[in-house]
Amino acid sequence: MKTAFDICVLPGDGIGIEVIEATLPILEKLQRGAGFELRFEHHPAGALHYKATGEALPETTFAAAKAADAILFGAMGWPEIRYQDGTEIAPQLDLRFRLELYAGVRPARAIPGVPAALADPRAKDIDLVLIRESTEGLFASRGKGVVEADREARDTMVITRAGSERVHEFAFRLAERRRLKGRPGRVTCVDKANVFVSMAFFRKVFDEVALRHPGVAANHHYVDATALDLVRKPWMFDVMVTENMFGDILSDQAAALVGGMGMAPSADIGDAHGLFQPCHGSAPDIAGQRKANPTAAFLSAAMMLDWLAERSGNPELAAAALKLEGAVDAVFDSGRLRPFELGGKDGTTAIRDAVLSNL
Ligand code: NAI
Ligand code: MG
Repeated sequence: MKTAFDICVLPGDGIGIEVIEATLPILEKLQRGAGFELRFEHHPAGALHYKATGEALPETTFAAAKAADAILFGAMGWPEIRYQDGTEIAPQLDLRFRLELYAGVRPARAIPGVPAALADPRAKDIDLVLIRESTEGLFASRGKGVVEADREARDTMVITRAGSERVHEFAFRLAERRRLKGRPGRVTCVDKANVFVSMAFFRKVFDEVALRHPGVAANHHYVDATALDLVRKPWMFDVMVTENMFGDILSDQAAALVGGMGMAPSADIGDAHGLFQPCHGSAPDIAGQRKANPTAAFLSAAMMLDWLAERSGNPELAAAALKLEGAVDAVFDSGRLRPFELGGKDGTTAIRDAVLSNL
């Protein structure tokens, strides 16, 4: 059984660096005396690296990410640093496309003790996972959009059978695993099949894949109605699967329901590679002030441990993932912590220390 794992660490820009710096001592503590070893290796990439060198994602960094057992990522991008065409530096998108990290896994789970955005008491039952297709959709147009004579601009949405099939399969398998843990076991396809043929095709492939998973309930929801119901009754959702751009938007909305960007973890999963990062960006408005909430990065690290456990069959990693999630839940449930983002005065260091001492 595999016990040593190479972790490629890409802190990136702004608070990406701060939250990763807070996460590493937690992982170090978890592996002390446990039956696994994580070997961390830092590599440069991001907007500031681009500004300094002209390269956003050096090939040596890409090769290291590809060779590693998992990638731990902070955040990349800086609004003032842009390419000639006006778009931003975003190596996370290059990594998703080049490593075929097709399933963007974005859980939104209400953590006891974290103030909910919704007043309805059922908000404490929010426990959903949004799967964002991450290799095609509207993002297939990235770098290929056209502006004609300063008169008309065009970006094209691409939905393929292969791309849809694999992400839908992923969603159904996840729902099956969650059902074993007491969740409803339901997948909702979020689309706009009433207007676009690309979206009708996405739904058609979803329905075909659903037939292979009779133990899991399947339904559809239009994306605009989903925006409504994510506020009106988000506790109704279990697993959701959607196109890249819709997933980008709805996952930020889902994060707001459970305490904001600093509480929202994510994983970008493919058949051969996995990248784990908080949902948030580099947050220039608070960068350098130690105000960032590192919880999303901690929970992303827990997702990494869990994924490595599944791939390697090493149960100690799964135990460490549970321990980390439990420590996060316990420190918030105690009511002593209130991050800046939620109107409190606990910054990166205080939150890190609280979780460390709970471990
Ligand atoms: P953002 O997620 O960086 O920030 C949005 C808001 O949430 C800000 O008010 C910020 O202060 C707050 N926030 C985010 N994370 C927080 C945390 N951990 N604790 C407390 N507050 C937090 O999104 P924004 O401002 O749209 O983008 C900033 C830069 O990050 C841009 O250059 C953007 O392209 C990039 N970006 C990168 C991502 C990635 O690396 N995966 C994802 C999203 C944006
Ligand atoms: Mg986004």
